[in-house]
Amino acid sequence: MAHIFAHRGSAGTHPENTMVSFMEAERVQADGIELDVQLAKDGVVVVIHDETVNRTTDGTGWVGQMTYRQLRKLNANYEFKQYGFCPIPSLQEVLEWVQGNSLLINIELKNNLVPYERLEEKTIELVERYRLASRVIFSSFNHESMATCRTLAPHIETALLYMEKLHQPWNYAHTLRALALHPYHPTVDRSFVEAAHANDLLVRPFTINKEERMKTMFQYKVNGIFTDFPEKAKHIREKT
Ligand code: G3P
Ligand code: CA
Repeated sequence: MAHIFAHRGSAGTHPENTMVSFMEAERVQADGIELDVQLAKDGVVVVIHDETVNRTTDGTGWVGQMTYRQLRKLNANYEFKQYGFCPIPSLQEVLEWVQGNSLLINIELKNNLVPYERLEEKTIELVERYRLASRVIFSSFNHESMATCRTLAPHIETALLYMEKLHQPWNYAHTLRALALHPYHPTVDRSFVEAAHANDLLVRPFTINKEERMKTMFQYKVNGIFTDFPEKAKHIREKT
């Protein structure tokens, strides 16, 4: 059965990458959450998608040039006013909360544009501190970083994120010791999923919000999907 990962929490209905968004994923019984991490100026691993706070908060500036204390004052709820003030979570805060449930956690390292120093080490340290390795998947568009994670923590699964269609990326993925491919969903068809499985790679396409496309992905027997609407995805999965 394909796992349903609530993308940036439940970003279709709640402020992305905030605790209320992750809690909504738990409420609708998604299998997992997906979140994005970066490093604040003082080395705190924070949960936010963009390299600046401009789009998702009421502040401006680069994430990496602000301390966690400064970031924490910002309101990361730019869209769903009914949820009021929603701070940028630290990864520590999310992992503490996750300890009380059974959600899988896809931690996307957002280090493909800004090369955060030791983001891999700091993220792994937190996952180990909360003993969550068996429930964590690391992913990134920075594939070298995924190889680094496997070297530092060989027991934690890694996945390669990519946008463009790749031709038979099996050997490439094996060389990086990745266990999964996380492709942009329009690049995925049935033969790709079958070939990936034949080459011992899991497939979890992103980000799928249309019901018809969810159904198609489930029929292809992908291992998981990322969606902003996990509740809707659960209904589609039950009917497929
Ligand atoms: O992990 C899947 C997806 O989150 C990757 O794209 O831009 O939403 O982080 P993005
Ligand atoms: Ca992401």
